[in-house]
Amino acid sequence: MRPYTICHMLSSIDGRIDGAVLRRVIPGGLYESTGARLRGDAWVCGRTTMELHFAEKRRFRSRSRSRAGSRSVHVARRSASYAVSIDTLGKLRWSSGDLDGDHLICVVSQRAPGDYLTYLRDRGISYVVTGRTSVDLASAVRLLARHFGIRRLLLEGGGNINGGFLQAHLVDEVSLLLAPGIDGRREAPTVFDGVNPSLTNAVRLTLMSVKKQKNGTLWIRYKVI
Ligand SMILES: NC(=O)c1ccc[n+]([C@@H]2O[C@H](COP(=O)([O-])OP(=O)(O)OC[C@H]3O[C@@H](n4cnc5c(N)ncnc54)[C@H](OP(=O)(O)O)[C@@H]3O)[C@@H](O)[C@H]2O)c1
Repeated sequence: MRPYTICHMLSSIDGRIDGAVLRRVIPGGLYESTGARLRGDAWVCGRTTMELHFAEKRRFRSRSRSRAGSRSVHVARRSASYAVSIDTLGKLRWSSGDLDGDHLICVVSQRAPGDYLTYLRDRGISYVVTGRTSVDLASAVRLLARHFGIRRLLLEGGGNINGGFLQAHLVDEVSLLLAPGIDGRREAPTVFDGVNPSLTNAVRLTLMSVKKQKNGTLWIRYKVI
């Protein structure tokens, strides 16, 4: 049993997702208000996005030689809504166990330092350890459903974590806000990045709905086949 997962993203018409560039062409708050209509009980982001927008600027510094070890789950508390961070090596520091009222769950691999788990427990932050060298996303989402009751998960970027979920067949739906703007920079992150180059067939989607939003933005929802 895993949560129904909707990848909710804002992009330019060329698929690029750098929010700082898109700010000029999208009405403030539209990403959040459309996301709220998807009624997730949790949202998840990759380590880079969490570090840019939510975690503390200074990274965690370990003093232990031990590693997080085999799979474990710590439920600091249950909540009506959760924020989930996917952070392979336990790099991120947090000022509290809540992000905008959502209880924080850190998902790390067995390579995270042992004292990182103590650090999280001391701050009232929940965690999941899964995957030997990298986070096992399929196992992570199953553990999130089983231990925290998460049924509807919003996957909110960036491109690499979205690519990881897509490749692991964990995306059920895509909710794309297509902003009337062009980025065009080769190096800018895109909606789905880092998928294994051996996968040479596009993932097929079925259109669910298209809604015109303020300012010429389109809200497009697709089901992943
Ligand atoms: N427009 C939007 O809707 C939107 C939404 C969110 C973010 N963004 C933008 O997206 C950009 C960041 O995107 P990004 O692709 O560079 O980073 P990202 O997807 O936020 O994070 C990628 C990192 O997550 C960690 N990770 C752990 N397990 C993974 C797995 N199985 N697959 C992939 N990654 C895994 C890796 O770091 P470790 O190895 O250190 O764990 C990886 O480098 C920023 O510019 C941000 O502002 C835009």
